[in-house]
Amino acid sequence: MHNNLLKLKKFEPETEDILSEITEGLTRPQKALPSKLFYDKEGSSLFDQITNLEEYYLTRTEVAIIKDNIKQISDTLGQECLLIELGSGSSQKIRLLLENLNNPSGYVPIDISEEHLLNSVRTLAKDYPGLRIMPMYADYTKSFNLPPFNFPYSKKVVYYPGSTIGNFSPVEAYEFLRRISQIAGPESGLLIGVDLVKDKRILHKAYNDKSGVTADFNLNILRRINREIGSNFNLNEWEHNAFFNSEENRIEMHLESKSEQLIQINGTRVKVARGESILTEYSYKYTIEAFRELVSDFYKVETVWTDRNNLFSIQYLVA
Ligand code: AVI
Repeated sequence: MHNNLLKLKKFEPETEDILSEITEGLTRPQKALPSKLFYDKEGSSLFDQITNLEEYYLTRTEVAIIKDNIKQISDTLGQECLLIELGSGSSQKIRLLLENLNNPSGYVPIDISEEHLLNSVRTLAKDYPGLRIMPMYADYTKSFNLPPFNFPYSKKVVYYPGSTIGNFSPVEAYEFLRRISQIAGPESGLLIGVDLVKDKRILHKAYNDKSGVTADFNLNILRRINREIGSNFNLNEWEHNAFFNSEENRIEMHLESKSEQLIQINGTRVKVARGESILTEYSYKYTIEAFRELVSDFYKVETVWTDRNNLFSIQYLVA
C-alpha cells in the first residue's frame, strides 16, 4: 500500500433491474438496448481497439490537441488544482495531464468498475509518489457526491474526456452537466472533450471501420445478453448499421435484423420483422456554438482548443 493512495470511497450503485430495462426497450416502437451494456470485459477491449483504428479519429485527435496545447492547458488549470476524472477506466489519459500540470493537489478517479479502478490506482500511486490519489467507486451518471477534502487545493477541475458526453441525448447531457457543476461547486472547472460536427463521410467511416471492429463491438451487446440474461439472439441474423443523422447531428448505431425472428429473453418473447432494427447508441456531435448554448445556464466556456481540421475539441468551462 502506498501512503499517497487513500482508501477507496464507495457510492454503491443501486442494483438496477437490467432485465426489465432490456425488455422494456425491446417493446418500444423503435426497439432499443441500453448502451451501457456495451462495456463488459470483451466490449471494453473492443472499444480499446476502436480507439486505435485509423478511421476512429477521436482518441488520436484528442490526445494530439492536449499535447499541442499542454502549456496553455496547465496555465489555465493553474497551481494545485484538484483533478476529478469521470469514468477514469485504466487512468491512461490522465498521465499526460499529471506529468504537465502545475503541482496538482490530488487526483480523484471515479469509475464503475471497482476492479479496474483498484488495479489502475495502484500503478498510478507507484508512478506518482507525490500525488494524493482518492479513488471513488461510483456510477457517475447516477447520484453521487464528493467527499470532503481535508487538504489545500486551489480549485476543483472535473476531467471528462473522450466525447462521452455525446452518448447522452442533449436533454440528458444538460441535466448531467448541470448536476456535475453543482457537485463540484461554484468556480469549479470542467475540462471536457467534445466531438465536432463535420463532413458526413469522415463520421461514417469512423463508425463503419473496414476491419469490422465497430460492428463486432455493436454485436457484442447481443452476445452479452445471451450469456448474462439468457436469450437466444442468433448473431448471424443481425447486421451492424451506423449512419449520421444530419438533422439531429448524431451518429445512430443500430443492429438490423436480416430475417423475421422470434427472440426469447428470459421468458419474454419479442417479435422482430425483417429489416427492423434495434437502436444501440447515439453519438451526438456538436458545433462549438451549440455546445456553448447547451451549457450556458451553468457553465461559461472559457477556452476551446481544436485541431487544425476542426475534428475535435477540448474545452475548459467554469461553473
Ligand atoms: C465512448 N463513446 C464516446 C464512443 C463514441 O464514439 O460515441 C463509443 C463508440 N461507439 C462506436 N464507436 C465508439
